[in-house]
Amino acid sequence: MSLLIIGGTGTLGRQIVLQALTKGYQVRCLVRNFRKASFLKEWGAELVYGDLTKPETIPPCFNGITAIIDASTSRANELESLKKVDWEGKLCLIEAAKVANIQRFVFFSAQNVEQFENIPLMKVKNGIEIKLKESRIPFTIFRLSGFYQGLIEQYAIPILENLPIWVTNENTYISYMDTQDIAKFCLRSLQIPQTKNQTFFLSGLKDWVSSEIINLCEQLAGQKAKVQRVPLFLLKLVSRFFGFFEWGQNISDRLAFAEILTTENNFSNSTFDLYKIFKIEPAELIQLDDYFLEYFIRLLKRLRDINFEDIQKQKNLVI
Ligand SMILES: NC(=O)c1ccc[n+]([C@@H]2O[C@H](COP(=O)([O-])OP(=O)(O)OC[C@H]3O[C@@H](n4cnc5c(N)ncnc54)[C@H](OP(=O)(O)O)[C@@H]3O)[C@@H](O)[C@H]2O)c1
Repeated sequence: MSLLIIGGTGTLGRQIVLQALTKGYQVRCLVRNFRKASFLKEWGAELVYGDLTKPETIPPCFNGITAIIDASTSRANELESLKKVDWEGKLCLIEAAKVANIQRFVFFSAQNVEQFENIPLMKVKNGIEIKLKESRIPFTIFRLSGFYQGLIEQYAIPILENLPIWVTNENTYISYMDTQDIAKFCLRSLQIPQTKNQTFFLSGLKDWVSSEIINLCEQLAGQKAKVQRVPLFLLKLVSRFFGFFEWGQNISDRLAFAEILTTENNFSNSTFDLYKIFKIEPAELIQLDDYFLEYFIRLLKRLRDINFEDIQKQKNLVI
């Protein structure tokens, strides 16, 4: 089976590429910057130029491909790219996949998309889910929550750098997952016929509130966090205010995610059934405690190495 992976340079996409290559798949990555994607080539993937904002670059990437895994999304720092990448780009992908008679299209969506039509990213994710189902291409949709990898920037780094962490007063539980585990589910779906034309709510085994994550990082860092609490109503008010101005649309989109914080997760009950379908033992999954522990150990080792190098340099100077 030959795979076309979109978004291979991203947080999730790179894990999918690595695991697919390890499993012996032929992997082609659609990338828009060869230099940035060179590590994927070193791992053994074939790189082809493509840009979701340039429709003419998409169909040629499908030659000889059996399945497509789309792990791409617009970068937050690229203004106006949401419509072009997550909507128009994905429509082009679906069209090209139909023409190429693709046997499986794996798409990553987000939890509760249909409830948040007021959030542009959620609206386009829901729209693409609908278009994909209508296309008659065999599909698998994974609705995801948060990634462990995002928590480093959100919690660990601010604690280490003594910067404030912004949290809302509400206790919202989120079952984050490691992208390595999401990649495992994704590739397993290609081998299990039962997963064809199905939508799965993929979530970790434990729900976390922000105060628990902060406690964990404080213990591992040996440092207290500077926590700033923002009432949810204030976040929503700011979101509505920015929504009036075109220039504020990007800020508004991001703040609108505050809405999600008020909604209960609805997928926890089916998690164990899901693991059964994919024949993945819950014990195989990476736990958040272990993920953070490994991060802090690696960081400490790096700091020690830097210190050691400095001491060596100073010694050499003295000699
Ligand atoms: N992160 C989360 O917590 C979360 C939660 C729920 C769902 N998801 C979904 O999971 C998937 C993976 O997310 P992620 O956080 O791993 O993404 P990410 O790290 O932001 O990576 C985005 C990827 O999309 C590529 N891309 C952006 N614009 C492109 C364009 N015009 N043409 C071609 N490629 C383009 C990027 O390539 P460059 O390197 O060239 O920019 C990169 O490889 C997405 O569908 C996302 O919506 C994520």
